[in-house]
Amino acid sequence: MKNESFVYQNQELGVQTENGWRSLNELAKKQSRPFYLYSQNSIKQRVKNLSENLNGLDFKLHYAMKANSNASVLKLMKSLGCGADVVSQGEAQWALENGFTAQDIIFSGVAKSKSDLQFAIENDLYQINVESLPELKRLGELTKALGKKARVGIRINPNIKVDTHPYITTGFQENKFGIAEYQLREVAEIVKTYPGLLLSGLSSHIGSQIREVPPLIEAVQSLLRTTRSLIQDGHPITTLDIGGGLGIDYATGDETVELEMMKSFCEKAKDVLKDFKGRVMLEPGRALVARSGILCTQVEYVKYNGHKDFIIINSGMNHLMRPALYEAFHRILPLTKRSETPEKLYDVVGPICESSDVLGRNRQLSPPHEGDWLAIMDSGAYGMSMASFYNRHEFPEEIII
Ligand code: LLP
Repeated sequence: MKNESFVYQNQELGVQTENGWRSLNELAKKQSRPFYLYSQNSIKQRVKNLSENLNGLDFKLHYAMKANSNASVLKLMKSLGCGADVVSQGEAQWALENGFTAQDIIFSGVAKSKSDLQFAIENDLYQINVESLPELKRLGELTKALGKKARVGIRINPNIKVDTHPYITTGFQENKFGIAEYQLREVAEIVKTYPGLLLSGLSSHIGSQIREVPPLIEAVQSLLRTTRSLIQDGHPITTLDIGGGLGIDYATGDETVELEMMKSFCEKAKDVLKDFKGRVMLEPGRALVARSGILCTQVEYVKYNGHKDFIIINSGMNHLMRPALYEAFHRILPLTKRSETPEKLYDVVGPICESSDVLGRNRQLSPPHEGDWLAIMDSGAYGMSMASFYNRHEFPEEIII
């Protein structure tokens, strides 16, 4: 039996819930516009799975809420024991409004403004992950001015190149993120100058949609090396944030391979970190929510232009930006399979006035009828959170079940 959250029964696509299979057509019938559907069950399984794999380690999952900041998803994450990883004051505020406490929150991001840092200090967020020397100085000045302390994590850029889309590597020297290892001496000097800066942790996050374990482990090893040298220099490093980045297999609904990779990563990370005395933090986004969400959209027109067949739907790059931005692949499935006519090759395109507004190229599908519902699969991560108001179409609804 395949490991899947959304499966067909009698030609109908449905979602596996705790109370069994539920038809998506039943839900779609009540909707008048495109909607994202998130499965609580799938998110719970993912969090449980990752947590079980990390058993034996003093760890905390800080869900990277940029992947999906739907209020119900955040509340669910909190109820499952997760903290949050935020990258703006807006995200921090939203996390606080949706159940997380300040002590649950770590704050990353390369461009934190004075106001962002002040917010983090005044609200006593658990850790501020600092990404540059000038940011560290700015934070130091603010602690002085406010007469407060701030727990600092230094985000290291370990200069590791990963095999993913170049737009989503973050731990390579070409990328704007993090502080290079050779700058750590200067970090230590700045920290000495400002008693308000409590250097408590190191962090790294080398990219997203990573499908292989070795570079992720290389990053953990590099963090540990740096930690040891800082501890020797008298800095009591008590947290290690090993980032997110675990990918999924967008080509299939079967989750087995990615779950095995997750397990193997955790086992190796536990081994590398076995002598570290402190808390290990992870910042996964996609791995927890991508599989839990689908975007359901309706066919407006089926069009032939003498050269190509198009299925024109009422969701496009405005609702799911990933295909246009990264040429990302998402499976496209009909909510009801039609078998009356043979399948054809279609480009599935949205309503936006851009030729990059293609959700799927050359997809083999049965000819749909106007009004049929299609599901764009695995869009629980970086779907709604990257949606835009471009062309002023309505945003999709969001439903959690
Ligand atoms: N921590 C930090 C500091 C991050 O920048 C990110 C993602 C994460 C954690 C979570 O990474 P994940 O576990 O989700 O891979 N929009 C792109 C992904 C961009 C990821 C940016 N940073 C996409 O749709 O593929």
